[in-house]
Amino acid sequence: MARNPVHEMLSKPNHDEQARQMFVLSLKTHIGRKLRPGNKVIYEKQAKPKFVKEHGREPQDRHEIGPFMYQEPNYLMFSALNRDAQELMWDAIADPIYRQRERLEKTFDKLHASTARKGSLTLDPNFVPPRGLREVDIHLQPVNYAADYGEKDVLAGAFYEGGGNLYSMGGGIGTMESKAEVIQRFVKERFPDFTPTKILDFACSAGSSSTPWALAFPNAEVHALDVGAGMLRYAHARAEALGAPVHFHQMDASATTFPDQTFDLVVSHNAMHEMPQKTQAAMFKESFRILKSGGIAIHQDVPLRYSERDAFGQFESSWDLKNNNEPYWEAYATNDPVQMFLDAGFPKDSIWYGKFEQLDKTVAWFVSCARKP
Ligand SMILES: C[S@@+](CC[C@H](N)C(=O)[O-])C[C@H]1O[C@@H](n2cnc3c(N)ncnc32)[C@H](O)[C@@H]1O
Repeated sequence: MARNPVHEMLSKPNHDEQARQMFVLSLKTHIGRKLRPGNKVIYEKQAKPKFVKEHGREPQDRHEIGPFMYQEPNYLMFSALNRDAQELMWDAIADPIYRQRERLEKTFDKLHASTARKGSLTLDPNFVPPRGLREVDIHLQPVNYAADYGEKDVLAGAFYEGGGNLYSMGGGIGTMESKAEVIQRFVKERFPDFTPTKILDFACSAGSSSTPWALAFPNAEVHALDVGAGMLRYAHARAEALGAPVHFHQMDASATTFPDQTFDLVVSHNAMHEMPQKTQAAMFKESFRILKSGGIAIHQDVPLRYSERDAFGQFESSWDLKNNNEPYWEAYATNDPVQMFLDAGFPKDSIWYGKFEQLDKTVAWFVSCARKP
């Protein structure tokens, strides 16, 4: 299955809505490809010389660079436009979703009640999502990860998938493979004899990475968890619409209720960068606890490592933290997956950490992998 599959839970844009979405896409592409590279020029020609004049040396870190870049009108113009484009994107995604809200709720109802249902949905009415997800609209998504507007509500998932689909059309992250399919190829190359029979996808959002696991391993039982009821209802209905048997649970990745030694394979896709470091570490510990002996943990995420960037590169990357409601951006960019695996109990010689490229070479994802003895 390629990226962005078509299914019944998608909120299809009409002509004008699509035109608006395409406008936002080209605006975002223009800002990303034409304006953003200019920030380096602004830094080298304006901000850095001013800093050097004042301090007699070059800036040493991103914190020193900030106050000087914030005086540059061209940088402020980029920053305002980039923020506006993100807000416009959510506006353009919201229109078709709200127009079709009733249909989406009815489709959820139908798929959830169907006797042909292949997976399940287990919500916990007493579950309280972490404050950082309840109170923050991560990447400005107006119906946030934790949102829940009633027993048929699917808005958070509809927004998440709508945003992801639009973003991936222009984001240069390829269309040949989903993130899960990249990791499936990684598993095949690294562990050719490994066939999991019970799989968990931590922090699954709308389930876009959970369903490829169920479809690729039809004999495996696939589970997925996240914190928001609206997100999980959508993920469940989406999986049913795609004929993918997935069991969705409302749980915290840092403290699941699965018994010890339940799974052969636990994965997470783009999850760490939405978690504080203590939650990431706890998810690695949970990975060890709920894996069977010989089981494998793989945590994949975006290619963002401050250790690979100079002070300006770090300043540039921190734009999302400051302007796009990504509170855990730096917590991820500076984390240490090898140490988290070691602290969780995985043996040193089982740990692999590095980049793994998509087939179309558009992105090399960061992959951390370890095996329980
Ligand atoms: C970027 S999305 C993940 C995308 C998804 N895995 C995919 O591949 O499409 C990050 C997700 O992490 C979830 N998350 C963050 N902290 C969590 C926690 N403590 N427990 C469970 N899920 C969490 C958020 O609710 C959000 O849905």
